[in-house]
Amino acid sequence: MKQKKSGIIVCLVIAASLFQYCSKTDSVSSSLISSISSGMVVGTTTIPLPKLPDAPFNYSNLPFPAHIAVNLPTVDNTPITNQISNDGATLGRVLFYDKNLSKNNTVSCGSCHRQDLSFSDSAIKSRGFLGGSTDRHSMALLNVRFYKSGKMFWDERANTLEDQVLQPIQNTTEMGMTLSELVPKISGLSYYPVLFQKAFGTTEVSTDKISKALAQFVRSIVTYQSKYDQVKQGIAAFTADERDGETLFLTAGNNNTCAGCHAPPMFITSNPAGPFGLGDPVDLGINNQRRFKSGSLRNIANSAPYFHNGSVTSLQNMLAANIPAHSVGPQDRQKLLAFLQTLTDLTSINDLKYADPFK
Ligand code: HEC
Ligand code: HEC
Repeated sequence: MKQKKSGIIVCLVIAASLFQYCSKTDSVSSSLISSISSGMVVGTTTIPLPKLPDAPFNYSNLPFPAHIAVNLPTVDNTPITNQISNDGATLGRVLFYDKNLSKNNTVSCGSCHRQDLSFSDSAIKSRGFLGGSTDRHSMALLNVRFYKSGKMFWDERANTLEDQVLQPIQNTTEMGMTLSELVPKISGLSYYPVLFQKAFGTTEVSTDKISKALAQFVRSIVTYQSKYDQVKQGIAAFTADERDGETLFLTAGNNNTCAGCHAPPMFITSNPAGPFGLGDPVDLGINNQRRFKSGSLRNIANSAPYFHNGSVTSLQNMLAANIPAHSVGPQDRQKLLAFLQTLTDLTSINDLKYADPFK
């Protein structure tokens, strides 16, 4: 993910007298650069252009190994009306990392869903466009596509991913826009017409197309190249601890095994074996029932802190703390931890196709 940094960092005063840091891109004319380096205040803002490959990356046709491919059709929440295309996900990638989606151009989806952190945030609560804190901990956006019901957010208040992706844009803490401001703003940016044309066959921008493209990109973020996957394909072997940890994950806990609520192979299910709620005096979650969604446990070792309020700082603490359904005996903790660590797929957090194209 570490892309080459453009050489010059220019600092421009934008109309609202806020400072914005813009990396030098091909679009910045040399006269503008020289006027900046000579210390002149420039009254216009320069937007870096997204750097995209000539042919789009592959998002739509992934080589899922057999142990995932057999399960995929039964849990995939992709609607017929919004199948992933390479050009659609490419547009979604640009929108995902574009700070212009926030009122004051300071925050993008990627600010709170960081690729290096499995599309979550290391902060307990993330910071929005005016510096305010979100109500809950950011969710890791991996394998979102495999949550069968399609319901989104810790409290499942959005019925589909297409509905969900427009909400942070309009959230008064997160990005602070209205949809009627969004469409002309996106239409006015030079790099979008060609991207909309490729994705949807028209340069016309609409909230529906923005929603569809963002959902395509988020659904494209999947992991299938972890050690766990290599073991299932017979090309790697678990250590003794990892193997024992898998057995515990699949069997420990009577009716409510870990796997009953975090079902392999994607370690996610929208129909868990039993209800579970982390003690929380203020947040009542799904239908005020003190229940919460869990996303995929893949890459979980890379997305601390944990749970809807970010109150669990590490996996070790989770297994040792007295959390219902989540605490295990001291003799088992190292084994479960070893197993959970085999779910990490480093390709997903390094792959350029998921990275910020503005960097
Ligand atoms: C200021 C931080 C912030 C920004 C910006 C932000 N998010 Fe989030 N995101 C969060 C938080 C916090 C949650 C959990 C909120 C909740 O459940 O109430 C979340 C939840 C989600 C979920 C739900 C995942 C699931 O499994 O249910 C998706 C999808 C998502 N965000 C996508 C996006 C997209 C797309 C954008 C940009 C349009 C975006 N987010 C912008 C903080 C942010
Ligand atoms: C009865 C269902 C259930 C069982 C059993 C269960 N979990 Fe969970 N788990 C959940 C739910 C629901 C959440 C999210 C709760 C919240 O945020 O308040 C969660 C959260 C987690 C998280 C944090 C996820 C994140 O994104 O922050 C981890 C890690 C985890 N569980 C691992 C395990 C392990 C390991 C076991 C077995 C020892 C287990 N779970 C058993 C339902 C369950």
